[in-house]
Amino acid sequence: MNYPFWDEPMGYGVLMAVIAVFHVFVSHFAIGGGLYLVVSEQLARKAGDTRRLKFLEDLSKFFVLVTLVAGAVTGVGIWFVIGLLSPTATEALIHNYVWGWATEWTFFVVEIAAAMIYFYGWKTMAPRAHIIVGWIYFVAAWMSLLIINGIITFMLTPGQWLATGDFWDGFFNPTFWPSLVLRTGVCVMLAGLYALLVASRCEAGEFKARTVRYSAGWGIAGLAVTAVCQYWYWKAIPAAVTAKALQSMPTPILSVEVSIWLAAGIGALLVIFGLLAPRKFGFGAAAMLMALGLAWFGAFEWFRESIRKPYIITGYIYANGVEVAHADRYKKEGCLAQMAYKTGDDGADLFRHACRSCHTLDGYKALKPAFDGADRAFINAIVSATHQLRGNMPPFPGTAAEADKIADYLSHHTDRRSLAEICKLQGVELGWKAYEIRCGKCHVIGAASDKSKSFAGQSADDLNNMLNTAADLGEGMPAYTGDATERKALVAFLQTLGKGGTK
Ligand code: HEC
Ligand code: HEC
Repeated sequence: MNYPFWDEPMGYGVLMAVIAVFHVFVSHFAIGGGLYLVVSEQLARKAGDTRRLKFLEDLSKFFVLVTLVAGAVTGVGIWFVIGLLSPTATEALIHNYVWGWATEWTFFVVEIAAAMIYFYGWKTMAPRAHIIVGWIYFVAAWMSLLIINGIITFMLTPGQWLATGDFWDGFFNPTFWPSLVLRTGVCVMLAGLYALLVASRCEAGEFKARTVRYSAGWGIAGLAVTAVCQYWYWKAIPAAVTAKALQSMPTPILSVEVSIWLAAGIGALLVIFGLLAPRKFGFGAAAMLMALGLAWFGAFEWFRESIRKPYIITGYIYANGVEVAHADRYKKEGCLAQMAYKTGDDGADLFRHACRSCHTLDGYKALKPAFDGADRAFINAIVSATHQLRGNMPPFPGTAAEADKIADYLSHHTDRRSLAEICKLQGVELGWKAYEIRCGKCHVIGAASDKSKSFAGQSADDLNNMLNTAADLGEGMPAYTGDATERKALVAFLQTLGKGGTK
């Protein structure tokens, strides 16, 4: 590590998810809400609709509070978390896009100033000037999205930048346009959802019904743009990445499926309660829409983050912060030699550098239960072969001696009694547990590297022989080092697997 660290127990991934999802939910509303306010104000002024102008004034108060306070605080929060999660990648983003960030911050300052003037100007400003300020707000906010969108999409699909290192190649990368239009759709959708939340508190009657219907229209229009762009976005990701995801990455695929269902739920609620029965639109439906919207955004961002594995910037920096260009040097000279900041406990430092950006010992993606009952030789083999495991992890960035130091560190934190003693199981049940610990990390039953068919028709002796030569079966596959009880149970379980059972 080249920076001090903070071992918070939650796992950086969880911290990031909580803060980032909340932030995008607020910041996209900050853009769409600005558009909603100024467009609706123009319509209301043209129609001389004072009731609606009053509603918009109320909405703008809620809007300023939510976007300026919650948006700005969580935005700064993201910088803190990415600094913890991956200082190297944060540094790379700052260095490559320093003018991008400077431009973005300039737009942000304009956005904040315009929002304040717009809010305080309802009573004091001439209508025309007020509307102009509203448009300045929206354009500045959308421009800041445009810039951040270039940098965020760069992390997933850096495209030609990898070869040229050119700012514009990285900025206008293959997913830039689909993501920009998609996020603009999201802004419009969220403007509708937030306005519905405020409208749900209005007194029942004609005004409420037409405001609900109008806002639901924004929600549906935004959702339609988003749905089309999600497909366009998927198609813009290099085919090799999406093909690999379909074959062996359950997380991004699951998150796409979840996001489709959530979008369908949002669409259904908008049509039923927003368009067909706007008079019945209550706080419950509005809150449900907000919850679905937040969950949808979570699923989408989860997809974007997880399909990038094992990289944090595709093809450039691995998720553990090792630059791809330096990976060979790490392997040769060792990981410790590359660390400017060390605590003196090599095992712990190596664990922090190689694994801690994604795993904790016993919190989020805990490694302790993955190794309970396993011996140090086995742990060592797994540490050295992380790129072979499920999870699309980066290759281990260090020497064999360093892998052993991590194994030593991990084995001191795991339960070193025998597996049978720990889980109090026997027979096939114990064998299933042994499979989970010793084989299932690479051969997931029912997934890409399932070996169940190889066990069909094998006798116990055949299987024992296979285990004797385990280390020769594949690159990175560990030797079998479990005790006799566990081995017998595992063989029994492999036989049931060969017969098509899973337990
Ligand atoms: C880029 C993030 C990342 C890094 C860095 C990383 N892992 Fe993983 N690891 C994962 C993911 C994702 C999974 C799949 C976990 C899941 O399905 O819940 C996983 C799974 C595992 C598993 C299987 C878990 C189980 O329950 O059997 C082990 C063991 C493991 N990792 C060890 C390590 C070790 C040791 C290191 C450091 C040398 C490391 N990982 C570095 C992301 C990472
Ligand atoms: C670190 C990852 C890893 C672990 C853990 C692992 N294997 Fe493998 N295994 C591999 C790789 C890599 C190959 C070779 C490529 C392939 O066939 O998929 C392989 C090949 C095999 C094969 C031969 C392939 C065939 O089709 O006949 C069998 C059988 C097998 N493993 C069984 C097991 C069993 C049983 C365990 C648990 C005791 C286990 N493996 C644990 C990575 C692993």
